[in-house]
Amino acid sequence: MNRVPIGVLVSGGGTNLQAIIDASEAGRINAEVKVVVSNNPIAYGLDRARRHGIPSAVITKESFTTKDSYDAELIKTLNNHGVMLVVMAGFMRILTPAFVAAFPMRIMNIHPSLLPAFPGLGVQKKALEYGARFAGCTVHFVDAGVDSGPIIIQAVVPVHDGDTAETLSRRILVEEHRIYPQAIQLFAEGRLHVEGRRVFITGGQPVEGSIANPPVTISDE
Ligand code: GAR
Repeated sequence: MNRVPIGVLVSGGGTNLQAIIDASEAGRINAEVKVVVSNNPIAYGLDRARRHGIPSAVITKESFTTKDSYDAELIKTLNNHGVMLVVMAGFMRILTPAFVAAFPMRIMNIHPSLLPAFPGLGVQKKALEYGARFAGCTVHFVDAGVDSGPIIIQAVVPVHDGDTAETLSRRILVEEHRIYPQAIQLFAEGRLHVEGRRVFITGGQPVEGSIANPPVTISDE
């Protein structure tokens, strides 16, 4: 089966990029990273790409006078590498409507909260401050809004009493590295169907059961 050519957009450490590269190299996903693009010339994600022999490009905002011209360059770079699916992995820029239109339902993003709770930045800290008892992460298709597109997959983690933003972020990140490759694989298998806000998954198994935090310890009788 042909592997889906993907382009990964990063701004920082690139641990999600690494999880995707590892899944691809191990044959766990039917997709291949064709190019890594960063808006930040010193993003560690660029080193990860180099180490795996993956072409990379740096596109800095300073070289462009408008967001549209920046995104036009981004589109050109991705198209030059034959990218079919765009994967945002800690890319700290909001895409223009023209970019979104160039890859309709072919852009994914990962966000470290259970959307629609806590869109935006610094969201692990916001979940803690709010007193949420569960946090998590979301992979969604990107639409013209911010963190607002149809949701593909979410993972839930508990918030512990002793958590800091760092410990909670680490717990969420472990799940990010599991669900992002899974979302890409569902796309590669052609199993994702979007109807309005909802994403339906062909052959998807319903999740049984539920969890409470703290656990429910009183008896039913
Ligand atoms: C991840 O936690 C990702 O969910 C978050 O940035 C981090 C990037 O880590 N993205 C956002 O907050 C987007 N709104 P990584 O560079 O190690 O993959």
